[in-house]
Amino acid sequence: MSESIGFIGTGIMGQPMAMNLLKGGHRLSVYNRTKAKTEPLERAGARVAATPAEAARGAGVVMTIVSDSAAAEEVVLGKNGVLETIAAGAVLIDSSTISPTVSRKLACQVAGKNAAMLDAPVTGSKHGAEKGELTFMIGGERATLDRVTPILQLLGKRLIYCGQNGLGLAAKLAQNVIQSTMVEIFSEGFVLAAKAGVRPETMMEIVQGSMARATLTDFKAPFIFRGDFTPYFPLKLMHKDLELAMEAAYAHNLPMPAAAAVKEVYGAAKAQGKGELDYAAVITVLEDLAGVKVRSAEP
Ligand SMILES: NC(=O)c1ccc[n+]([C@@H]2O[C@H](COP(=O)([O-])OP(=O)(O)OC[C@H]3O[C@@H](n4cnc5c(N)ncnc54)[C@H](OP(=O)(O)O)[C@@H]3O)[C@@H](O)[C@H]2O)c1
Repeated sequence: MSESIGFIGTGIMGQPMAMNLLKGGHRLSVYNRTKAKTEPLERAGARVAATPAEAARGAGVVMTIVSDSAAAEEVVLGKNGVLETIAAGAVLIDSSTISPTVSRKLACQVAGKNAAMLDAPVTGSKHGAEKGELTFMIGGERATLDRVTPILQLLGKRLIYCGQNGLGLAAKLAQNVIQSTMVEIFSEGFVLAAKAGVRPETMMEIVQGSMARATLTDFKAPFIFRGDFTPYFPLKLMHKDLELAMEAAYAHNLPMPAAAAVKEVYGAAKAQGKGELDYAAVITVLEDLAGVKVRSAEP
């Protein structure tokens, strides 16, 4: 059944996700703060809204995917935000990675309008968004998820129900602690090898023949070896997720010593002005310290 969907935030992730909803036959009203990023969607048949409130007006489902907690609060609770127009019975799906506490606050406000909210952060990066192969981690009422499952299935292959509001995000933060640390420790190992004189291709052959092989680093390595840090997931957002994870650890009185150290390395990269690059650019901080580059030999 064709649904009227308000879609807010057409950045790296949002744009291909919105495109897949259009391809799935839904009617979309899209909003992005920087209007130029809605143009490909407009050409594909979406209506462009001037505000989040306008995008949400009359929609059965509203989807948001913006940078951080402040941005999510702005598009939902701010002036001309979703809350001004969301219909009773509608579902707000927020796929931004934000604070679980902020998300629960948004869910309460949405419930006050007799609508429902799911936190539905994703993993799978830009290519997963393009292929409709994201994994969703979902918090909220199970019945709300059931209502929007056909829509989410256009965007992801795995819809993983985690429990009440905020638990999708709790899972997402845990997942990004693992992912950020894997890329950072891969970088430390490869910088050590390069400093000692082992070529990155040789080192990669060794890692791929060992238990340390991982889909993530198989994907990232060719980009790193070319020095191509075109953002699939901007480093400043990975740093934001580590900060959120540390906040959660603090709230649970939980030590996370490795994650705390890894956060500082991403923080250093951000301080060096590398926040807009892909998070794999974390390696450049370690390269600078070591005075060596992990790059393929020029052909
Ligand atoms: N990229 C990934 O691999 C990936 C994977 C999983 C999860 N995520 C999460 O998905 C979310 C979006 O990430 P992305 O990679 O798509 O980032 P992005 O390309 O930087 O997009 C961020 C979006 O948020 C909007 N935005 C930021 N501040 C805003 C504000 N104050 N008011 C209204 N809109 C605002 C931006 O609008 P403008 O265009 O005007 O800046 C843009 O549409 C983040 O929470 C991120 O952690 C990303």
